[in-house]
Amino acid sequence: MHQDHLISATQLSRGDIEAVLDRAAAVDADPAAWHGRHDGSILGLCFFEPSTRTRMSFDAAAKRLGGETIDMGAVESSSVQKGETLADTMRVVEGYADALVLRHPSEGAATMAAEFVDVPLINAGDGAGQHPSQTLLDLYTIRENAGLDGITVGIMGDLKYGRTVHSLAAALTNFDVRQEFISPESLRLPRGVRYDLHESGGEVREHTGLEGILPELDVLYVTRIQRERFPDENEYRKVAGEYRIDGEDLESAKESLTVLHPLPRVDEIAPAVDDTDHAAYFEQAHNGIPIRMALLDMLLDDEEADR
Ligand code: NCD
Repeated sequence: MHQDHLISATQLSRGDIEAVLDRAAAVDADPAAWHGRHDGSILGLCFFEPSTRTRMSFDAAAKRLGGETIDMGAVESSSVQKGETLADTMRVVEGYADALVLRHPSEGAATMAAEFVDVPLINAGDGAGQHPSQTLLDLYTIRENAGLDGITVGIMGDLKYGRTVHSLAAALTNFDVRQEFISPESLRLPRGVRYDLHESGGEVREHTGLEGILPELDVLYVTRIQRERFPDENEYRKVAGEYRIDGEDLESAKESLTVLHPLPRVDEIAPAVDDTDHAAYFEQAHNGIPIRMALLDMLLDDEEADR
C-alpha cells in the first residue's frame, strides 16, 4: 500500500486490504520481531471525541513498534477551547509528529485536515462518516473466523449514523460477500452510502428484522445506536433497545455464526452471548493491536522512503 493518508475505506483495493491483513498476521505470529522497528518515531493522537479502544490501541501499537506518542488530550484542555480552527491545530501538530491520528465529530473533518498536513494522517472516525482502521480490524477478524469470500454478512443496528458500518460495507465490496442490512426504517443506510455500494457492484438488501435472514448468516455485525448523533432525544428513545440479541435469538443461527461488534456495546448484545462460541467481539477489539501496528509500519515505511 502506498498511500499518504488513510481517510476512507473506499480508497482501499482488495490488494491494499490483503497487504495490511497479511502484515498483521505476521505481527501476530511473532510480535517480538516487530519491536523497535520504528524506534524514535512519534505518533500524534488528536481526539476531539471520546475514545477508549481506538486511542489506546494506536498508542500501544506505536509503542510496540518502538515509537512514542503525543496526545492532544481532552478538547476541554486544548487550544480548541480558545477558538483555534482544526486546520491550524493540524498544521501545528504535524510539526511535532511523524504520523497523526484524528477523530472528530464532523463528517469530512479528516478529508479537510489532510489538505493541511504532509505526514500520514489516519482518520479514526469523522462524525457519521468513516472509520477505516476499525474496518481493517473487522476484516481481519472476519478472515480469521469465517474467511473473506463466499460468505454472507449481516450488518445490524444504526446503519444511518454508524461510521464503522459505512466503512465496512464499502470494504466488503472488494470480496465475494453477500451483505444483508438490518435496521429500523429510520436508521437505514444513508442514500450516499447506498449509491456508492451500488456503484461498486454491491447489492443492498435491507430488512427491518433479523429473524428471517439469521439462518443464512456467517457473520453478524451488531452496532450501537449512535445516541450522540441524534438531533432529537425522542427519536433515539423510539429505536433504543429495539435491536438487541440474546442467546435464544441465536438458536436458529448457523453453529459457525461469528458475532462481531466494534464496541462499546450498550445493551445490543446480552452478556449471555459472551459465553457462546459465536462471540468474537473481544477478540475483534484485541486485533486492533496487530492491525494498527501493521498499518503504522506501512505508513511510516513509506514516509521514511519518501524522505
Ligand atoms: C466505534 C466508533 O467510534 O465509531 N467505536 C470504535 O472505534 N470501536 C463504534 C461506536 O462508537 O459505536
